[in-house]
Amino acid sequence: MAHVDSPLLPTPTLEQRVDAVQAALDARGFEASKAVDELGHLAQEEWLPQNGARVVAKAWTDPAFRQRLLADGRASVMALGLPMPKHHRHLVVLENTAAVHNVICCTLCSCTAFTIIGLPPDWYKDLEYRARVVRESRTVLGEMGLALPADVEIRVWDTTADTRYMVLPEQPPHTLGWPEEDLAGVVTRDAMIGVARL
Ligand SMILES: [Fe+2]
Repeated sequence: MAHVDSPLLPTPTLEQRVDAVQAALDARGFEASKAVDELGHLAQEEWLPQNGARVVAKAWTDPAFRQRLLADGRASVMALGLPMPKHHRHLVVLENTAAVHNVICCTLCSCTAFTIIGLPPDWYKDLEYRARVVRESRTVLGEMGLALPADVEIRVWDTTADTRYMVLPEQPPHTLGWPEEDLAGVVTRDAMIGVARL
């Protein structure tokens, strides 16, 4: 009997392997292709940092909303019509100030409030970021282009399955008085992760 790991057999490409798994699931009635298409659509069209940017812009312009957002992030973003998966039981919004800078990570894997701030970038999933941002956050932020003054306290928040975070960046002074739509345009995913300031 031929050995399945024969070095003479070409290794299938990633795409071929994905197709094979999908075909096997489809053949058993799991409709994996449909689920993958749906997830792809959500990830590329719906779960975008623009959602979080809307939230931040509203928090900058509406003090009552800001209060509610800091008290209950999940309820507040859902009230804006934004989706939160059921298992994201808490959305904790971390307010940056002149004295305190917040940054988020997931030391275990790659969790984010992805429906609000978008899917995590590749570096967020790297072992190096996950390990080092906790131990030497100031150095890691500096390497990523964010040099914080020594008197700014850095707080690192480790995401869990049911508690997700987003950073509420400080509003850049030159944008005071701008309409909400324009404000949303200056808010970046990296600022909501906390590896950049605006
Ligand atoms: Fe994770």
